[in-house]
Amino acid sequence: MTATTIERRPVLTIDDLSVVYDVEQPVTAVKGASFELSAGEILGLAGESGCGKTTLAYAVNRLHKPPARIASGQIVFHDADGSDVDLLTLGHDELRAFRWSKLSMVFQGAMNALNPVTSIRTQLEDVLLTHRPELGKKERRERAADVLRRVGVDPVRLRSYPHELSGGMRQRVMIAMAMILEPQVMIMDEPTTALDVVVQRDILREIVRLRDELGFAVIFITHDLPLLLEISDRIAVMLRGEIVELGDAATMYRSPRHEYTKKLLASFPSLSGSRGSFIRTGIDREDAS
Ligand SMILES: Nc1ncnc2c1ncn2[C@@H]1O[C@H](COP(=O)(O)OP(=O)(O)O)[C@@H](O)[C@H]1O
Ligand SMILES: [Mg+2]
Repeated sequence: MTATTIERRPVLTIDDLSVVYDVEQPVTAVKGASFELSAGEILGLAGESGCGKTTLAYAVNRLHKPPARIASGQIVFHDADGSDVDLLTLGHDELRAFRWSKLSMVFQGAMNALNPVTSIRTQLEDVLLTHRPELGKKERRERAADVLRRVGVDPVRLRSYPHELSGGMRQRVMIAMAMILEPQVMIMDEPTTALDVVVQRDILREIVRLRDELGFAVIFITHDLPLLLEISDRIAVMLRGEIVELGDAATMYRSPRHEYTKKLLASFPSLSGSRGSFIRTGIDREDAS
């Protein structure tokens, strides 16, 4: 296997981020997390349930709500247009404009978050109506069909309602929705955990292919480390709120440094063979710029 080299321009810098739940016995769910996400990179975030992955994802999006509070740190988005945006200082309206269009999120359990009484077309077009009001009706229709096609769903499904779709298809629709404004970063929190293994693999393959094609960066969150080894360029391992190891996926697989990473790897006996290469297609590239 050749080493994965990705474009080194950072798109997101997280520095010393701490998130506290201000409850009776305050919990610091994220402790001084620091990492950089490069443009076009797939960064895996691994760690067992309860270690703080979702809390981190919400904070990066500024979607956290009380009792969660960002206690320290900086989150800076480096826009492809050259400007730097300090996410923690954005006002409500700026944040609204920013979310989905620059940085979007696929939530844990998202496939159950679609509105049951509205068609897929309406839900996709509503994002465009809100964020791209300048588009005409025809363009909106075309974009909705196009983004659905990209995630592998026949545009005939635009007329469907969520309950008429399989879980895998609903999850693809959620990914389409997160992609429709062409964000530079997508955060995906356990996007395929609820799906069966075959559907999960299909969707992961699609995400990697879309990344190759469109060049967005992904923070991919799951407790499933073997899965991350297959699709990620780099992996961050989280333990009780702290990122304890961060490195190139192939290197981490060959020679994990932290005891916890070793333990995680050892707990998956199926990892004795080679790292699956069937999902990672075309990402061993020289330079994406
Ligand atoms: N609403 C809440 N109130 C208090 N503590 C919380 C709340 N949500 C999460 N936590 C704490 O934050 C920790 C991390 O949770 P979470 O970010 O959901 O972990 P993960 O996504 O890795 O499973 C939990 O172990 C829990 O202690
Ligand atoms: Mg979670």
